Amino acid sequence: MPSAALELRGVLKRYGSALGVGPVDFDVREGELLTLLGPSGCGKTTTLHIIAGLLSPDAGTLRFGERDITRLDPQHRDMGLVFQNYALFPHKSVFDNVAFGLRMRRLPKDEIRDRVGRMLEVVGLPGVEARFPDQLSGGQRQRVALARALVIEPTLLLLDEPLSNLDAVLRKRMRHDLREIQQRLGIATVFVTHDQDEAFEMSDRVILMNRGQIEQVATPEELYDSPATRFAAEFIGEANLIEGVVADVADGAAVVDAAVGGRYPARLPDGGARSGDQVYLMVRPERVDIATAPPGNGAVPATVTKRVFSGDLLAFTLRTENGHELVASKPSVAGYRAIGPDAAVWVDLQDCRVLPRES
Ligand SMILES: Nc1ncnc2c1ncn2[C@@H]1O[C@H](COP(=O)(O)OP(=O)(O)O)[C@@H](O)[C@H]1O
Ligand SMILES: [Mg+2]
Repeated sequence: MPSAALELRGVLKRYGSALGVGPVDFDVREGELLTLLGPSGCGKTTTLHIIAGLLSPDAGTLRFGERDITRLDPQHRDMGLVFQNYALFPHKSVFDNVAFGLRMRRLPKDEIRDRVGRMLEVVGLPGVEARFPDQLSGGQRQRVALARALVIEPTLLLLDEPLSNLDAVLRKRMRHDLREIQQRLGIATVFVTHDQDEAFEMSDRVILMNRGQIEQVATPEELYDSPATRFAAEFIGEANLIEGVVADVADGAAVVDAAVGGRYPARLPDGGARSGDQVYLMVRPERVDIATAPPGNGAVPATVTKRVFSGDLLAFTLRTENGHELVASKPSVAGYRAIGPDAAVWVDLQDCRVLPRES
């Protein structure tokens, strides 16, 4: 088990009578990039501000290395912060912006010069020391903000939606660069985003949050393949949720009679399931097979009701003979291109998963 850089236990914050976050329990491991992912208002920023010491929790404790830091001032926490809006000092040069934390620590001038120069190289901006923030692009400003956070050699890096003010192309490149820098420095990082693609491309692990609570903690692949809740299944990518009844359970897998027609093997959730349970059968759109001739293995007849072309993919909406709707995502190759709206097809479901049906 990798050791924890930071531990949150029972951390809770209210704003008046409204819940900000909590109670939440999680660890940030040495060297990992851990992402807090969830819709706006789910408590990501509140959690990050509690970690940084900008907010004091109403309950719970934080341990950082060997220390209890629950009541420690932010400037003594040894953490680097980057926010969405850069927050550079507009009237200071890039050099003075990046040097700020080192001057606060009263380091010698030569060392400050060396470290600022080196850190600007790390973030891919050598030689811009004399410029001012308004002489930089959005992407460059965010790199300066990153250099300013990293130059103090913090033990933990905290990033709150740092890419969301950048245009789409730059955002993609910065994702890659940020992850590369984080891995090269091996610095434990808590990254906040509402963007699932960003979370998946960058993270070692993801904490999915909803209404101030943790829904699931998992690697991106686990979260996609094995969402623990309906919220997780629907927030992460797209999901077909088909009502069904468990017909049999054996060797850690279930067989489910699905409302679309047909009987399908399905992986079980953590809590298991029993014969007779009313559940959802969860199937990702790319795992809905479509055939134009009956494959003869119990596939279900359906009609294409909608087809959306997005370049590399085709999104099909299908209506089964008994009136259920399914979505399927297929590569944009000749065989699938030939399937037009109103086509009669046969569908089969692969890699199904059982999800509990909450009351
Ligand atoms: N200063 C504040 N005063 C009152 N309520 C707040 C304040 N900051 C956040 N909240 C509320 O706390 C909840 C969590 O907010 P926040 O942590 O900012 O979410 P996120 O960063 O995930 O969008 C939301 O319901 C939000 O409206
Ligand atoms: Mg926020």
